[in-house]
Amino acid sequence: MALKPNLFHTQAQKLPSFARPPVTSLRSPKFFMASTLSSGSKEVENLKKPFMPPREVHLQVTHSMPPQKIEIFKSLEDWADQNILVHLKPVEKCWQPQDFLPDPASDGFYEQVKELRERAKEIPDDYFVVLVGDMVTEEALPTYQTMLNTLDGVRDETGASPTSWAIWTRAWTAEENRHGDLLNKYLYLCGRVDMKQIEKTIQYLIGSGMDPRTENNPYLGFIYTSFQERATFISHGNTARHAKEHGDLKLAQMCGIIAADEKRHETAYTKIVEKLFEIDPDGTVLAFADMMRKKISMPAHLMYDGHDDNLFEHFSAVAQRLGVYTARDYADIMEFLVGRWKVEDLTGLSGEGRKAQEYICGLPPRIRRLEERAQGRAKEGPSIPFSWLFDRQVKL
Ligand SMILES: [Fe+2]
Ligand SMILES: [Fe+2]
Repeated sequence: MALKPNLFHTQAQKLPSFARPPVTSLRSPKFFMASTLSSGSKEVENLKKPFMPPREVHLQVTHSMPPQKIEIFKSLEDWADQNILVHLKPVEKCWQPQDFLPDPASDGFYEQVKELRERAKEIPDDYFVVLVGDMVTEEALPTYQTMLNTLDGVRDETGASPTSWAIWTRAWTAEENRHGDLLNKYLYLCGRVDMKQIEKTIQYLIGSGMDPRTENNPYLGFIYTSFQERATFISHGNTARHAKEHGDLKLAQMCGIIAADEKRHETAYTKIVEKLFEIDPDGTVLAFADMMRKKISMPAHLMYDGHDDNLFEHFSAVAQRLGVYTARDYADIMEFLVGRWKVEDLTGLSGEGRKAQEYICGLPPRIRRLEERAQGRAKEGPSIPFSWLFDRQVKL
């Protein structure tokens, strides 16, 4: 998973409201209230508060799936064993970060590092902003495993539960763990970025957590992960393409191999949702519409480096400008999922279900139209310093 820049977030001023991040004001004190960061004497504040408070500012809804539906997931145990676990790769057949990195035990280590650094010199700063943002997103993996384990009926109840759902979640996490590892080690060796600032960003992000508003509801959770896996597939695929264009075939290979994992994960998660559509079309179409109304918040949208309150927006703006992950991709993913789950062809829905179906099917062209209009109005972005790059200026 991991995620990925949310362009809508980025350009909150330029993009239509549906495309903005979920920032709803709190109405009732009984709900958990998360604070936002205030600017100003932040350094002082941070010293007083060694851990960042959660920065989410919307209502936190829990356990929205009717309890009886937990049975659906129990009854799908064997199905998941035969249809989902097959998308995991045996560890012995998996690539490892070391396959793509200089071998520290070899005599040629220094030479290989030198070559890696020479190649990195040809790559522009804006590319590094995106690659660092992608790496930070991947490195917040504990948050994503936590998120999956919030879901009723599929969570890993013990930490080593033998259910198919729990096996999937642990093995998925183990596969994902290689993504941050590989990118982290590459960035460490390349010498182009401020590792300490990046490491602080990772620590802040894991401490912040995330609330993708999946409400302990596996319908919402698997729709969310389907979306995210495809988003990361697109994003890593594009960083691979750009690395190739900058003449770094080895880096292209690294990003490409990560993209291939994301694709496999997307296949698994979309298959789960496809099955839910088969068993419970009404419940699933309502969940899909609900998730899309709330917008898919990006896993790393609470990113912070101790300096820049809008770090995620800035990273996303660079990703948008380079075409690594754009507002158009959001519409494309949406359209892909509508087609993948054959939402248009659903029959026998309730009145509410039909409304949700209509809403979903009309959404991709609507997003696209609004996005095109917003792009037409978009102005040239300024250049700002990124702590990840020793405060070098990068154009947004
Ligand atoms: Fe993934
Ligand atoms: Fe990943």
